[in-house]
Amino acid sequence: MNAPMLQGQALNAPAWVKNAKLLAWVADMAALCKPEAIHWCDGSQEEYQRLCQQLVDAGTFRKLDEAKRPNSFLALSDPGDVARVEDRTFICSEKQEDAGPTNHWKAPAEMRATLQPLFDGCMRGRTMYVVPFSMGPLGSPIAHIGIELSDSPYVAVNMKIMTRMGKAVYEVLGAEGDFVPCVHTVGAPLEAGQKDVAWPCNTTKYIVHYPETREIWSYGSGYGGNALLGKKCFALRIASTMGKAEGWLAEHMLILGVTSPEGKKYHVAAAFPSACGKTNFSMLVPPAGMDGWKVTTIGDDIAWIKPGADGRLYAINPEAGYFGVAPGTNLLTNPNCMHSLDRDVIFTNVALTDDGDVWWEGMEQDVPGKALPAHLTDWQGRDWTPEIAKATGAKAAHPNSRFTVAATNNPALDPAWDDPKGVAIDAFIFGGRRSTTVPLVTEARNWIEGVYAAATMGSETTAAAAGQQGVVRRDPFAMLPFAGYNMSDYFQHWLDLGKKLEASGAALPKTYTTNWFRKGEDGKFVWPGYGENMRVLKWIIERVEGRQGGESHLTGTSPAYADLDWSGLDFSAAQFDTVTQTDPAAWKRELQLHAELFDQLKQRLPQELDATRRQLSEQLG
Ligand code: OXD
Ligand code: MN
Repeated sequence: MNAPMLQGQALNAPAWVKNAKLLAWVADMAALCKPEAIHWCDGSQEEYQRLCQQLVDAGTFRKLDEAKRPNSFLALSDPGDVARVEDRTFICSEKQEDAGPTNHWKAPAEMRATLQPLFDGCMRGRTMYVVPFSMGPLGSPIAHIGIELSDSPYVAVNMKIMTRMGKAVYEVLGAEGDFVPCVHTVGAPLEAGQKDVAWPCNTTKYIVHYPETREIWSYGSGYGGNALLGKKCFALRIASTMGKAEGWLAEHMLILGVTSPEGKKYHVAAAFPSACGKTNFSMLVPPAGMDGWKVTTIGDDIAWIKPGADGRLYAINPEAGYFGVAPGTNLLTNPNCMHSLDRDVIFTNVALTDDGDVWWEGMEQDVPGKALPAHLTDWQGRDWTPEIAKATGAKAAHPNSRFTVAATNNPALDPAWDDPKGVAIDAFIFGGRRSTTVPLVTEARNWIEGVYAAATMGSETTAAAAGQQGVVRRDPFAMLPFAGYNMSDYFQHWLDLGKKLEASGAALPKTYTTNWFRKGEDGKFVWPGYGENMRVLKWIIERVEGRQGGESHLTGTSPAYADLDWSGLDFSAAQFDTVTQTDPAAWKRELQLHAELFDQLKQRLPQELDATRRQLSEQLG
């Protein structure tokens, strides 16, 4: 297996794979992982159906009722493999300072020495799938190619939905093109004659990134962001380091189009932490009374953003599907999403109804008085009844249960979602999840204050990552688990980009912070959220157009009660006050927390940010 030609033959590589570097790498990885066979994915529908059937036969997938949920499947994971594992996620740059204090770090040589024996023979008895994918429209100047090697057919079929996956990628790659190599194993080799389990994985897990050599190695998990390596590992962690080096941005942001009643179209990119409603916001249906407005989806989770020749920022969605959180999704909170899920879906860890359909907590909130199902099979394959739930609190669906579905299923898909040029961004939104302190919406006075607000975002944690839920942690730019390099350098990159664009005479997008999650004294959310967020979006668009008022306060400009459109909603000035007021005592405590964050990040913290914090403190007195 020396010359590339010989490798190609030994690997049974199809004739359409011509990239010498790729062939050599697959040969090396096959020699290390020792799979029983190699399958070169072509991304065809026929291949997808065949692999799904194989997953059904293996007991990983259960086919759902064809009449109720055509061509859809349910996978139940191992109960220990249900979320991203942030404490097992590593950024292995040569220097620890380059990973920064918010990332887990190991020296590359040390990590390679740890992984080598784990990967040696890790695919024994399994097939290695070679999954070619493009993050972004094929051939777009903003897109990049990755190749994932995985011993999980579940990964291969999910990648088919989540990315532009298949043969056409090799045409763009050509003989000499570059790609990000991504190796994934569930870490469960099969000895001769050993029977497989429905969800193979390993209690040892490593999600490893080498930013300097742009490689991803993932061991031991079959789940979501740990295993579908195009998503968080490539499109955020590795891509953020590529963007830093090349002058662009890889962000944990949805992208939406919003069209006003006059037919003017704008584009907004919005960062919210995991499981805080990015999918809902990207598919928003305006409420009654705001019928002239329309929202269309470009992406629901990740944005790659590059300055164009005209000095504006152009964004693409690097993904081609949605890997969204199921619980809480219903016809009221997100009708477009519910319709997206009518067919051709892979569900993971939701509950199964007795008639072969799916169910999750919060699914039928929209049907008043509708009873809970009398019986379900829960996400661990156990009986579930309302009585059991009442007595034990058992959830039928795991709180981080997911659907995987193609973007093209979305009735609100923006016509430009696949445009290789991307869409020009008019406004950025940074949305925290805070029950107190942070107002409903604030416009920053300038780029630096916008970066400051995003950098100091706080959020109560959700089920998207393993660990305690509901704890406030700083989640700068909603990128805490996803920045592939030092967070202070990341802030600097945003500041530098703003300076560069301003110097070229371009108008920078305005920046906003939002918080849909303020609670009243009764502990309940005050702001109705979901479609009603259109009222805030409308204010933002009218601010962008320069025809909307607001009130200036400590951190920027927020609408007065009269500045929001209330048609069709009964929301009192007193309620509005509860979600917008800025309490000086709370803000003093908040700024203290910003100081603690900056202390953690002090090594390379841009001085503009600390100066902004000091200014705010002085203003507060
Ligand atoms: C996601 C996440 O899956 O942020 O999108 O965890
Ligand atoms: Mn996300």
